[in-house]
Amino acid sequence: MSMKFLLLLCLCVGGALTHGNEDYDDYDAEAKPTPAPKEAIDPRGHRPVSRGEVYIPVAAPPPVSGRGRYRTRPTTAPTGQPQEEKEEQPDHGGCVHASETMGVLCPTGCELKTALLKQERNVKPTVAQLKREVDALSQTSNSVYRYVTDMTTEVTERQKISDGNGQMVSQYTDDLEVQHAFVKEAIDVTFPQNIKILQGVLEKIRDKIQRIEKAIIAQRDKCAEPCKVSCPIPVVSGKDCEDIFRKGGEASQMYLVRPELLQTPYRVYCDQITQDGGWLLVQSRLDGSVDFGRRWDDYKRGFGNIAFDVGKGYCETPGEYWLGNDRISQLTKMGPTEILIEMQDWTGAKVYARYQQFTVQGEPSNYILAIDKYSGTAGNTFLEGAKELFGQNRTMTIHNGMMFSTYDRDNDRWVPGDPSKQCSREDGGGWWYNQCHSANPNGRYYWGGAYTKYMAKHGTDDGVVWMNWKGSWYSLKAISMKIRPFFADK
Ligand SMILES: *[C@@H]1O[C@H](CO)[C@@H](O)[C@H](O)[C@H]1NC(C)=O
Repeated sequence: MSMKFLLLLCLCVGGALTHGNEDYDDYDAEAKPTPAPKEAIDPRGHRPVSRGEVYIPVAAPPPVSGRGRYRTRPTTAPTGQPQEEKEEQPDHGGCVHASETMGVLCPTGCELKTALLKQERNVKPTVAQLKREVDALSQTSNSVYRYVTDMTTEVTERQKISDGNGQMVSQYTDDLEVQHAFVKEAIDVTFPQNIKILQGVLEKIRDKIQRIEKAIIAQRDKCAEPCKVSCPIPVVSGKDCEDIFRKGGEASQMYLVRPELLQTPYRVYCDQITQDGGWLLVQSRLDGSVDFGRRWDDYKRGFGNIAFDVGKGYCETPGEYWLGNDRISQLTKMGPTEILIEMQDWTGAKVYARYQQFTVQGEPSNYILAIDKYSGTAGNTFLEGAKELFGQNRTMTIHNGMMFSTYDRDNDRWVPGDPSKQCSREDGGGWWYNQCHSANPNGRYYWGGAYTKYMAKHGTDDGVVWMNWKGSWYSLKAISMKIRPFFADK
């Protein structure tokens, strides 16, 4: 009976120990660091085929083309009469807009608060449970101790009887003695040790929680003030930014768009100045304030901050955001769409790439990218791949025809099905990875530009990279992607 009990107890201690060893800092179970491959040499935009691997190129689907839904722009956009009623969209203070579709308004700190609160929710019950387990263990060890004391008495008793009864009882007594010694050893040495370890683990976790609580309180204070970033909804809204432009919305700022009549409107930033305006911002990086290493669902729905008001009374400054693959897909499938990708290095130099055809298929096909008709100064990375590579090595960096990949959903061309070969895990963001990239606009944000593979999490060029302009080891200061319905020029 005592043996069985002991075994059970040991199992219990073992279980509790493994439980306690989990690192709560890594609760997000993001990409586990994989050792950088030995052949990690410049450039790392692609992963050269290693022995035993095959690279199978895919044919790209044609993008939606044609003259477009929009006719050539009238010479002057009508101004004055707003076309739609102003919708009341009150801020409720705090971090999230009262209307859910309006998204998060506060600066990134509040995102942290949300993340921390979420984490706290997960950790607290676990720690409480752990504490109960440790307490129970101490309790149990006490009762076992009592049991052993009783046993010791009994052994002494038995010895006396044994002396009287001779051989008859001696076998039984021997067994009892062995068992006694074993259990006593456990009580005196093993249990206290295990409990000490558990208490140490518990202490550590408590420490962490205290730190998290402090951070949360700090954030709570920050977010207690009603959000300064509140965007008055402009009077003009429309199907997209081109529609808004034609209705007289000629200022670059945050607008509400509704591509289809029965759809819930959502916020976007419209650039109404650059290259004749009408551009709907779908991606924006400019200061590293938003984390782009996100899951499939985040990229599907969109994330980040649409726009800020820096003192003009309306939200004329774009934030960092990803519009969301579902929205991008919907907008680009409604008709021929063009895309403008603008970027800036850390000295202020600017280049751009423009494609007159840009289509993103829906989620069932993993948002396949189809792009064509390049012009610009940044280099035709999407269609031609990285100029510094040759043959198959270059083919592997072409983005046209690729499906979208995130670290939790691998659709790239790098040994499909091999979980250790996932571009998105190594290169920092969600993207139309091949094997792997020549452009990485959603990569990690590095302050200052130049970075090295030793700074990169996986030794790969995971920065905000546009290889045909700055190579693999330069992370851009800013990059943005804007779309507009294609219409023939006058
Ligand atoms: C492709 O890359 C590998 C590794 O960097 C290199 O050994 C090979 O020569 C390259 N192939 C071509 C055609 O450049």
